[in-house]
Amino acid sequence: MKKVIAANPWLFPLPPILVSCQDGGKKPNIITLAWCGVVSSNPVMVQIGIRPSRYSHDLILKSREFVINIPTRKLAWAVDLCGTVSGQKKNKFNLTGLTPAPSIKVRVPSIKECPINLECKLVGTLRFGSHTHFLAQVVAVQVEEKILDENGKPDIKKLDPLAFFPIADQYYSIGKLVGRYGFSKEQ
Ligand SMILES: Cc1cc2nc3c(=O)[nH]c(=O)nc-3n(C[C@H](O)[C@H](O)[C@H](O)COP(=O)(O)O)c2cc1C
Repeated sequence: MKKVIAANPWLFPLPPILVSCQDGGKKPNIITLAWCGVVSSNPVMVQIGIRPSRYSHDLILKSREFVINIPTRKLAWAVDLCGTVSGQKKNKFNLTGLTPAPSIKVRVPSIKECPINLECKLVGTLRFGSHTHFLAQVVAVQVEEKILDENGKPDIKKLDPLAFFPIADQYYSIGKLVGRYGFSKEQ
């Protein structure tokens, strides 16, 4: 028996990401986001959803650049901190001890401790309701060699990423492998 409930955006789990941004010469900031996704494979485009009330919202609108930094399970506390404190008053790099590292193609710094950094240039924005969607092209990617497998692809166990379950405000780590793409045809 299923229950009919209010319409909710119940899509999960979501990848919690650390987005670094910066307004001109001002101090860099970090915002935690879960409303994010892939828009296109070619060109490589992604989107992030940010409420206009966030300090980072206008920083990205002005600079038109940001970096998506993929956190590991060890960085869960920093993910939570950057998602509960505003950069309006606090320097979140100082607060978390995370290190701003030079990016390749954008002026915004990447986060050194995150093994994957997607450098993004804003292409456009969309506003439907509570969030502004920033659509961006990924112009460079840096990846920590230690998390790559023998084929040069990220090994999920070495990466040890987080999954966010927004309904209960819970962070999880990744569980067991269930199958590989196309495994249904091998049976
Ligand atoms: C796990 C998690 C996910 C979040 N996802 C989003 C999101 O997708 N969009 C958003 O606007 N805020 C999101 N937030 C809230 C912001 O990260 C939070 O308001 C932050 O303090 C804003 O920082 P800023 O004012 O420095 O920009 C999330 C927070 C957490 C902890």
